[in-house]
Amino acid sequence: MDRIKITGGQRLNGTIPISGAKNAALPLMIASLLTPDRLTLKNVPNLADVNLLARILRNHGVDSAVDGKRAGPSQYIGETFHLSARDIVDTVAPYEMVSRMRASFWVLGPLLARCGQARVSLPGGCAIGTRPVDLHLMALKEMGAEIDIEAGYVIAKAPGGLRGGRVVFPKVSVGATHNALLAAALARGETVLENAAREPEVGDVANCLVKMGAQIEGIGTSTLRIQGANRLEGAVHSVLPDRIETGTFAMAVAATGGDVTLEGARADLLKTALDTLRKTGVEVQETNSGIRIARNGAALEPVDVETQPFPGFPTDLQAQLMALMATAGGTSVIRETIFENRFMHVQELARLGADIRLHGDTATIKGVKGLTGAQVMATDLRASVSLVIAGLVADGETTINRVYHLDRGFEQLEQKLSRCGAQIERLTG
Ligand code: UD1
Repeated sequence: MDRIKITGGQRLNGTIPISGAKNAALPLMIASLLTPDRLTLKNVPNLADVNLLARILRNHGVDSAVDGKRAGPSQYIGETFHLSARDIVDTVAPYEMVSRMRASFWVLGPLLARCGQARVSLPGGCAIGTRPVDLHLMALKEMGAEIDIEAGYVIAKAPGGLRGGRVVFPKVSVGATHNALLAAALARGETVLENAAREPEVGDVANCLVKMGAQIEGIGTSTLRIQGANRLEGAVHSVLPDRIETGTFAMAVAATGGDVTLEGARADLLKTALDTLRKTGVEVQETNSGIRIARNGAALEPVDVETQPFPGFPTDLQAQLMALMATAGGTSVIRETIFENRFMHVQELARLGADIRLHGDTATIKGVKGLTGAQVMATDLRASVSLVIAGLVADGETTINRVYHLDRGFEQLEQKLSRCGAQIERLTG
């Protein structure tokens, strides 16, 4: 298994190109199930999760082709995916696939809307909590689906097709919003989704569905009003920049010190996280080409943060912020309100010398003078990258095991960091 070796202590300087958002690319690829025409997605990040989803979609009958990728030393242009679901050949999403990538459960709504039936495995366990799918099922039932659970599978039927409905989500769920939104685009009549997730990736999917022929009002708000179409058409859509990758590199620069421009990043997608960085004393500046992050070596101020659905501080940046606060000049408090059990990185950060106490959903981080390199292991995507940030700051050598988590969500991570002066390399085998 691959490992990543980091020799810490280098400041980061230069430019990091920001990739397309994984969490938008995945549901956008799934949207291809809704039309027999070709959906072309530009700026798709080349990630293990994207390639796995392409394989999963192929099982349903989606042909995918990728244009040649052009990468250069300073410029990176994501991949262009062409997806065509002329005929849906299989409406079953088996356990072997869905258990490997939770987001593939989102094929349920589109398959049901297009074919009137679907059999999709429940996603199963997950390292960051139980993550149920009750809200997904509730939404589809409101749209006329009959749903049974048998032998770990969701068996959904809507023989006459789905119809519009009114869904009031009792809790904000990104995935349930995607599932319902995708289904509603091809349902008969109007669907209203209330307390919908406002994450920018949901807006990106909605914008693409509009190009495909759905009528959607309220994009970017918590009430989405969708007029379904009888037939959706092909479209060309460019995936929005990854706000989590942006925030991650911003925190890496904040942690090591230096001056980096995050090229192509959009500040409006992560305002709360950038404001948090400003509070720590880091310079954050919107520029014509992206966002500039700079820190000249002054001590980091501690912060108190609570994760919240968008536009709040994202849970997907919680681990990275904790790594940053590990060496702040005081005590920070971070409360995780979205996922239970999303503190797996704490033990590993402690191995590098961080002083973190956990009480239920709250972590108290007492800044230490410095971290020291060690062998660490990661349990999920965001936790792994928090260890990369800590490793960049730590004295000496840090080796991170189980790198496959990083490959699921970060495109060219080592290359992007090493071009800015980090000593980071992948050890294969
Ligand atoms: C998505 C993101 C993930 C991010 C998360 C929260 C993708 C591919 N993944 O995950 O990176 O961390 O949003 O921003 O976009 N819940 C229920 N019932 C449901 C569905 C969810 O109780 O039917 C709960 C979950 O357990 C969790 C909370 O709702 O506590 C939020 O989960 P959700 O927004 O659905 O996360 P995902 O869509 O899985």
